Amino acid sequence: MNSNTIIGSTTVLAVFGDPVSHSLSPLMHNAAFSALDWNCVYIPCRVQSEQLSIAVRSIQALNWKGVNITIPYKQAVQAELDQISGDAEKSGSVNTIINRDNQLIGTSTDGIGFLRSLQEEGHFEVKEKNVILFGAGGAARAVIYSLINAGIKSLTIVNRNFEKANDLRLQVLDKTGFALSVYDLSKLEEINWDLYDLLINSTSVGLHDEQSLVPVIYLKPKHFVYDMVYKRGDTKLSRDAKQVGCQSLSGLSMLLYQGAESFQLWFESDPPIDAMRRALYQYYE
Ligand SMILES: NC(=O)c1ccc[n+]([C@@H]2O[C@H](COP(=O)([O-])OP(=O)(O)OC[C@H]3O[C@@H](n4cnc5c(N)ncnc54)[C@H](OP(=O)(O)O)[C@@H]3O)[C@@H](O)[C@H]2O)c1
Repeated sequence: MNSNTIIGSTTVLAVFGDPVSHSLSPLMHNAAFSALDWNCVYIPCRVQSEQLSIAVRSIQALNWKGVNITIPYKQAVQAELDQISGDAEKSGSVNTIINRDNQLIGTSTDGIGFLRSLQEEGHFEVKEKNVILFGAGGAARAVIYSLINAGIKSLTIVNRNFEKANDLRLQVLDKTGFALSVYDLSKLEEINWDLYDLLINSTSVGLHDEQSLVPVIYLKPKHFVYDMVYKRGDTKLSRDAKQVGCQSLSGLSMLLYQGAESFQLWFESDPPIDAMRRALYQYYE
């Protein structure tokens, strides 16, 4: 029997979101199951907001092993779970649900996936580094606490909506005691660009456009540039970074490692990361 054949005993996992048609998680996880010859299937589920509660409780009713959560439910889903653990407690963002003994446990693998991708694909160690991060939304929240835990020296957040960035600064101070600085996006000329080792774009700029929030004149070869956006071809920020001679990584790498971490939590077994990487990168060839 082919491991992809769905039979009565097939283990089911899924991703919930709206929209969900763009998600590459089914591709990546089903490639992992094929590589291991496991009889599991991972399916995309478009869930409307008024159905989120029912959908989450269905994980128990249908005895699914686990689920990923994507936009726009990473915050809202918390209220539906039995337990929140790990990074999700601080960031308030859940991207992984584990169905263990019929208890739904929510956690986030975005932060740890981000860090692992930096270390393992980027060969970049964040300890004692100065970091500048663009954005103050869900993706920013998901990685900030992991960066602080990993021992960064300083963190500067730049956002279009200054109030939102300032609220995040206060929340981080309250939860960790870490003092970060915030800048308004319109005041880039006030920033000391030479200070930073790692520059992260966690905004959606570059996803559907050819824009970058970082004028190329501010990029230095010493910056490691991480654009959390992923799409076919480079973003403008990634192209500019390469032109200046910066090392860089795209969001595809984060997607891979957050998926690998989710797999590890569901199955308590090492994921076949090379097969997962191959599936993702071949899709974008
Ligand atoms: N690679 C991965 O695995 C991964 C994981 C998570 C997210 N992401 C990507 O990260 C991006 C952000 O996701 P999110 O969940 O954080 O979204 P979000 O919560 O909606 O936040 C969006 C952020 O982008 C900023 N922004 C949007 N349009 C802008 C513009 N025209 N000019 C300046 N700033 C702008 C927003 O600034 P304001 O606060 O001023 O509105 C905010 O900081 C998305 O592209 C997503 O695909 C990737």
